[in-house]
Amino acid sequence: MSTRRKPKTKTPERDIPSLDLSARPRRNRKSPSVRNLVRETSLLPGDLVYPLFIHDKNGDEEIESMPGCKRWSIPGLVEEVRQSHSLGVGAVMIFPAIEDGLKSPFAEECYNPRGLVPRAIAAIKKEVPEVAVITDIALDPYSSDGHDGVVSPSGEILNDVTVEVLCKQALCHAAAGVDIVAPSDMMDGRVGAIRETLDEEGHTNVSIMSYTAKYASSFYGPFRGALDSAPRGGDKMTYQMDPANSTEALRELILDEEEGADMVMVKPAGYYLDLVSLFRENTDLPLAAYQVSGEYLMIKAAAESGWLDEEKIILESLLSVKRAGADMVITYFAKKAAEILSRT
Ligand code: PBG
Repeated sequence: MSTRRKPKTKTPERDIPSLDLSARPRRNRKSPSVRNLVRETSLLPGDLVYPLFIHDKNGDEEIESMPGCKRWSIPGLVEEVRQSHSLGVGAVMIFPAIEDGLKSPFAEECYNPRGLVPRAIAAIKKEVPEVAVITDIALDPYSSDGHDGVVSPSGEILNDVTVEVLCKQALCHAAAGVDIVAPSDMMDGRVGAIRETLDEEGHTNVSIMSYTAKYASSFYGPFRGALDSAPRGGDKMTYQMDPANSTEALRELILDEEEGADMVMVKPAGYYLDLVSLFRENTDLPLAAYQVSGEYLMIKAAAESGWLDEEKIILESLLSVKRAGADMVITYFAKKAAEILSRT
């Protein structure tokens, strides 16, 4: 650096100070075109997965706990999927609100071939077949206990009994034409068991997106309001992960890879970006991150009060998840984000 000649200043005013810098990172930010050339991360509608709530009623209904989201009837769902697909969103995830009368301790409704989810899958695959349909595999919407697994009389969440039911649920969705099943229950061994069950029945093309590191997070509150699926007793700490842990998530990652997961997921997303990066460094599998209901609502609330610019925050929050290493982001903003992207 000592041999460097002091650069001539281009400015006529001689008293403007000029530093002797060989590196000026700002040169790469000087115009939109240059910034485009050096941009490291992109956010495209095709990176987004759109979670949608459904119910077994005729009309569509606003969700009180999640302003801006609806519980769709099947025709409403199909139309929403069509519209978001025309904006470039190629994948949806469906979550059913189940009537109380159909909930039970063993959640039998979750594998009823004439149930709400199989009908919704079939309707989407018939009307908008290009869209990839992803379904949640877990018992909570169907469980009279509001847990992801079967609860013993003493209150224990029974792992192996639950896995058997999850396999029936996955098989039922596969028979209805689902593209990807996404076990969100966090029972041990469920990915391997579901893979084996699907393969035995000839559904070798159905993929598994595993909720690999799903944390016991308070950010899921609004979602449970949308489905009336909150635990009737206790919490989910014996199966979902402790928010204090990250090394433990690598153990889950290794198991899911061994058991045959096609895609892995970190959930929530925004407050768990360290996990997204950790997974990116430790797996070659496609990586998803779920911007959950609480994250959605925080942005919504701040935007509605006029504190934040909603459109900019939506894109920045999603881009950040991709920058951390995710290939895809599951977000209630999927349609809105795609619409913003289409005009910016
Ligand atoms: C059900 C499930 C939950 C979410 C996705 N699948 C709730 C939970 O585990 O309690 C949360 C999604 C969100 O908050 O947006 N197993």
